[in-house]
Amino acid sequence: MSETINTTGVTCIWGGRNSGKTTLAKRLIMPQVKGQRIVVIDPLANPDEGHATAQSFAQSLYAGERLLTLCNGNASEAIPAIYAAWAHSSKDNPIYIICDEAPAYMKTDTPHLNRIMFQGRHRAFGMAILGQKPTAVSANIRSQAELTFWMRLTDFNDVDTASKMIGPRAKELAGFSAGQYISH
Ligand SMILES: Nc1ncnc2c1ncn2[C@@H]1O[C@H](COP(=O)(O)OP(=O)(O)O)[C@@H](O)[C@H]1O
Ligand SMILES: [Mg+2]
Repeated sequence: MSETINTTGVTCIWGGRNSGKTTLAKRLIMPQVKGQRIVVIDPLANPDEGHATAQSFAQSLYAGERLLTLCNGNASEAIPAIYAAWAHSSKDNPIYIICDEAPAYMKTDTPHLNRIMFQGRHRAFGMAILGQKPTAVSANIRSQAELTFWMRLTDFNDVDTASKMIGPRAKELAGFSAGQYISH
């Protein structure tokens, strides 16, 4: 685990359930995020530990809360929360966002997501996108990743998507154990 993450760029982690995505984000990405506030979108997070709406998420964000989770996978809440984090991020207050279970809310591009993805990186804002099905996330979004981790994947369409990026090695993904990956 020696890959260097660009903490003001986009990193993707694709892998089936229990392939080790969330663990990899915690062990490999989070320790490299220094001096940036880390916020998390995780539809599977315990509702007691997170915000259910973008509005309450954003209020805590503006108030400076350090540990911030949105535990709602509806695009109508998750996308505004991501946008709020991006809009609030700056050189003086840099933010890194971990978008877990992203296919739940990133199937298609939205004006907000496009703005984040394509309007420069001036905001000292970084993003990790994690999901079980890369093919369920817009190719426009996926292609913004500077670094992608491929973990255990068995679905034919997902392996096919992986093979376009990493070539014939994608066939090995189906036999990976938890935590194993190919980075690209
Ligand atoms: N590098 C690793 N080595 C061994 N076990 C791992 C590793 N990474 C994850 N696991 C185990 O695999 C299971 C699923 O991990 P998790 O990160 O929650 O997967 P995902 O987010 O892809 O569903 C957990 O029980 C975790 O402890
Ligand atoms: Mg997970």
